[in-house]
Amino acid sequence: MEDFKQRIEELRSQLAEHNRRYYVENSPSISDYDFDMLMNELIALEKAHPELVTEDSPTRRVGSDLADGEDAVSREFRHLPHRYPMLSLGNTYNTGEVAQFVTKASKGSEHPLSFCCELKFDGTAICLTYKAGKLVRALTRGDGIVGDDVLRNVHHIHSIPSVLHGEGIPDEFEIRGEIYMPYKSFDALCAEREEDGEAPFANPRNAASGSLKLTDSAEVGRRGLECTLYHMLGEDLPFATHDEALTKAASWGLPVSGHRQICRDIDEIEKFISYWDTERKLLPFATDGVVIKVNELPVQKELGFTSKFPRWAVAYKFKAEQACTEVLGIDYQVGRTGAVTPVANLTPVPLSGTMVKRATLHNAEQMEALDIRIGDWVYVEKGGEIIPKITAVELSKRPLLSEKPVFPEVCPDCGTPLVREADQAKWFCPNVWACPTQVKESLVHFLSRRAMNVLAGDATVAQLYDKGLVRNSADFYDLKYTDLYRLEGWKEKSCERFLKSLENSRKVTFDHVLYAIGIRNVGETTAKMLARHYRNIDALASASLEELQQVGDIGEIIAASIRSFFEEPRNVENIERLRKAGLQFSMAEEGALDAMLEGQTIVITGTYDISRDEMKALVESHSGRISSGVSAKTSFVLVGRNPGPEKIKKAGELGVRTVSEREFYDIIGQTMPETEEKELTLF
Ligand code: IVH
Repeated sequence: MEDFKQRIEELRSQLAEHNRRYYVENSPSISDYDFDMLMNELIALEKAHPELVTEDSPTRRVGSDLADGEDAVSREFRHLPHRYPMLSLGNTYNTGEVAQFVTKASKGSEHPLSFCCELKFDGTAICLTYKAGKLVRALTRGDGIVGDDVLRNVHHIHSIPSVLHGEGIPDEFEIRGEIYMPYKSFDALCAEREEDGEAPFANPRNAASGSLKLTDSAEVGRRGLECTLYHMLGEDLPFATHDEALTKAASWGLPVSGHRQICRDIDEIEKFISYWDTERKLLPFATDGVVIKVNELPVQKELGFTSKFPRWAVAYKFKAEQACTEVLGIDYQVGRTGAVTPVANLTPVPLSGTMVKRATLHNAEQMEALDIRIGDWVYVEKGGEIIPKITAVELSKRPLLSEKPVFPEVCPDCGTPLVREADQAKWFCPNVWACPTQVKESLVHFLSRRAMNVLAGDATVAQLYDKGLVRNSADFYDLKYTDLYRLEGWKEKSCERFLKSLENSRKVTFDHVLYAIGIRNVGETTAKMLARHYRNIDALASASLEELQQVGDIGEIIAASIRSFFEEPRNVENIERLRKAGLQFSMAEEGALDAMLEGQTIVITGTYDISRDEMKALVESHSGRISSGVSAKTSFVLVGRNPGPEKIKKAGELGVRTVSEREFYDIIGQTMPETEEKELTLF
């Protein structure tokens, strides 16, 4: 396969996985900057090879915060359609591109334009609807078409008024903005979580988004979330400019930031950017850039949208903040896959609102490139991940007798000589089956929430491993009450809870099991795709390299990992034991769910990924009845893209539930087919 084709595949699958981690798990593993660089590489490759562009490429879609599959079935938040698609912003890290945006936007306009410059708040997007001055709806971005209904929680955020007061409040309007967590609340939350032995959030953005989706609304109120609103939408709103709309919104009691400025040209915009690049460090909350918007609303309307971004706005992103501190020593950490990562211990230094004590050096090459020494002063930067990274050494501060660290030749955990494959930057411990850290990490992964969802933390796994009770994942299912009860700290209740949780995991669907068994390079998204395609483990195990590469965007690397996994007899044996223990190694038969819509009357509106006739047939094949008009007898309205406004309105009036296409598939117990993003149109 040509190199660029493979690279495109790799980038798409990496970006899909990073999107999921960011939006769904609130636990990114790379920085925004690194994500944007991967995205830019993909955009450039797609531009050079337009024949390889697919409609579902991450360059064409906004990320989604909707949990799907298992989580969606049991989730607490219903999905509701956005009245106007909720898009993202085009972004850049250089002011030259901002100047290009200004020129492009001004083209064709008779009068000189003005630009409203605002801070880019680093939180999670929210869309509020006010009707007759009352807050009636609050949706997350979701996938941009449908969002999670978080109204119940939003009522607990003190800066969001439930009722507006003042002059000229439109009968109905939407206002969008960001829910964020100030540093002070973030620090308090992290300290509390640490005390309770829970994993900390990587940054205030993840904490805000995780908190907004809590099921306990009172706890949401205690988390100290704040809100700032920056975009008003509605039919026939009586404003000439964006700035005027925001000023009015503030006068009704809505939280709108005063840190905005009307600029007339690129020079004024650049001044605003450079002022805030420094000044933002003094703000009590996180910002990651400046947003520049065409201020005149008729011009905004004319410029319109692409499928992903408005053409009337652009985000200039700040480079991450840096701090300078001293390296006290270097640890070498072994991860789940055996990769050895050097991590520097630092003299604690404040950075973007928290104290940094450790920073990653990534790999031996990076250490060599930086020529880092113990005792050096180094620059650290925070990305999206919990552990910051070292970006440079301040040579002017190098001590005279500095000590050059030596990368270990053997695994710091089990002593096995490390190996490195030709095309890889990392050294690996090859002792996959017996290196304690690797085995424990892979067992933790196996039990984790998005895998087998068994209630056990790192400490439990370590205890079971250290006592010799588990060596591989199948051993969990041989554990007996008496094995656990003998262990230190285990009481009747904890033994029962753990065994019950293992029992429940036998029902976990095949896609999660496939993710749990830990095939290298097979993340959650790939596992879902494989499960949907092959339906059972035997079909997957016997697929050839070539066949695997025909599935979705699987390329050579993932295909090779899958093959080598199934060629290892110990993996095959472990799977056999898991199968005997009753785990799901095939997808449920669709026919078995036939009566899911028995007795329900469903109205369909809008377009779906399948044709309307196919959708009707799908409803009927699950014993549902289709009706053309919404009435009090309607069980739910199935809302597709561009739904009929009358049907949505009637459903609202009668209190009839609306269900998105994705949610519908959850109801009938099927996985939504791969979607093809259609061009979005505003209505
Ligand atoms: S305007 C049609 N203004 O950044 C898009 N967005 O990375 C209108 N954001 O999706 C968005 N501060 O969630 C706008 N002052 C601001 C913002 C802002 C933060 C978020 C928003 C957006 C994302 C893009």
